[in-house]
Amino acid sequence: MGIAGKILIVDDEPEALENCSRILKRFRYDCLTEHDPIRAVDVIKRERPGLVLTDLCMPGLDGIGVLNAAKQLDPAVQVVLLTAHATVQTAVTSMRQGALDYILKPFTGAELEAVARRAFAGAGERCAGGSEPVGPTAGQEKGGAAPMLGGSRAIREVLDLVNKVARTDANVLIYGESGTGKELAAQTIHSRSLRAARPFVPVDCVSLPDTLLESELFGHERGAFTGAHTSKPGLFEMAQGGTVFLDEVSGMSQNLQSRLLRVLQERQVRRVGGIRFVDVDVRVIAASNQDLEQACRQGTFREDLYFRLNVIPIALPPLRARGGDIQLLAQEFLTRFARRFGPASGVVPELSPDVTDRLVRYPWPGNVRELQNVIERAVALAEGPVIRVEHLPERLHLVSADEPAQADAASFKDAKQQAVRLFERTFLVDLLKRHGGHMGRAAREAGVDRKTIERMVKRHGLRDKR
Ligand SMILES: Nc1ncnc2c1ncn2[C@@H]1O[C@H](COP(=O)(O)OP(=O)(O)OP(=O)(O)O)[C@@H](O)[C@H]1O
Ligand SMILES: [Mg+2]
Repeated sequence: MGIAGKILIVDDEPEALENCSRILKRFRYDCLTEHDPIRAVDVIKRERPGLVLTDLCMPGLDGIGVLNAAKQLDPAVQVVLLTAHATVQTAVTSMRQGALDYILKPFTGAELEAVARRAFAGAGERCAGGSEPVGPTAGQEKGGAAPMLGGSRAIREVLDLVNKVARTDANVLIYGESGTGKELAAQTIHSRSLRAARPFVPVDCVSLPDTLLESELFGHERGAFTGAHTSKPGLFEMAQGGTVFLDEVSGMSQNLQSRLLRVLQERQVRRVGGIRFVDVDVRVIAASNQDLEQACRQGTFREDLYFRLNVIPIALPPLRARGGDIQLLAQEFLTRFARRFGPASGVVPELSPDVTDRLVRYPWPGNVRELQNVIERAVALAEGPVIRVEHLPERLHLVSADEPAQADAASFKDAKQQAVRLFERTFLVDLLKRHGGHMGRAAREAGVDRKTIERMVKRHGLRDKR
């Protein structure tokens, strides 16, 4: 087997150089090392590595400097920054300047290998398919999907899986709470697959009554039902060669489930009222925020259909389990909305420290979509260059300072506890407001005794009657 690719590692600490290169050599990478960032630029010129792994903080020229120089010399080179926790924000912004990704120190060999593999997988695809960037965070996708952003471990695992799955033609089932990015993940898979040039057709399986959904999906012939004056192809036919995204698939009736199963098994559709079968070549990506396995056990979802759809399951983590991504996404949405309707100066407003603090502590039950809406509203409300707490919706005013910040991969138990705490606080504040701070009356309305209310007030530090 030949070498897997040429990598230049830049770090002012000899030990770090040694360590990285030992790991990568094991995976058959050809490793060059350089402790002087300025000399590293010459090495890039001379040796043309496919990947530059560079430390962020170095004397003389920092990692961003190396990134810029490398990209100037060779726009196709992939650059990954090695960063300590304190400078992670800089590393995150570097991705907008063209870095493929960053790795947080200390990292494992597996993380290093995974990022190298991704860098070179991208190079292969570039040769095959033109000049598009292919990293998970590398700008606009072919199919027009916005990039799926995130640096947390939880989302990187998803992005890795999305990339792998995109190369196959298997059906995919995406799970996740509302607003976690299920549709975006489906679009990303499509736009990185061989079907990218063909249509991506999303279908909401709960917004239409059964019979309408049936003719939407499978089409109908003229005269099939009253009002069917012409024949019409269904979405499966229209997606020919591409991907159909079945959103909220658990909402399908039993009748439609069996029709869908037949389409998946036979790769043919018959229009409503028709007799002819039409061959269809589509990939199906389905999404659900319900537990389909449980639905199968309860008999509301066909198990054979579930097996067909669930060839590759992808679980999107809730935003509260993605730690640092809250800030990363907030920053991204700030930039997007500022461009759209921010201050006329074109300056992207900043988040006050207090706002950032609340954003990272709030449990985000509506996930990325909720964060996006909150930032959109804040950009619209803030007239100056700084977004302050008063520009946030009230539920975020209630986040207290002793709420722990959302951490990577919070356990379900922790996340639930946090959500319950926040709910309790919101409920209590509303209740007391309605009763002018009168705890006895509040207790009566809530159907609990006064002691309970007093304890809750104390627990949430709500002594101020306002
Ligand atoms: N990782 C991400 N990076 C950037 N934007 C994201 C990310 N995840 C989600 N979004 C954005 O958040 C919004 C909600 O995502 P999406 O519609 O894909 O979620 P969903 O899980 O399908 O939600 P729902 O359950 O409500 O249908 C979209 O505008 C999407 O572009
Ligand atoms: Mg959706």
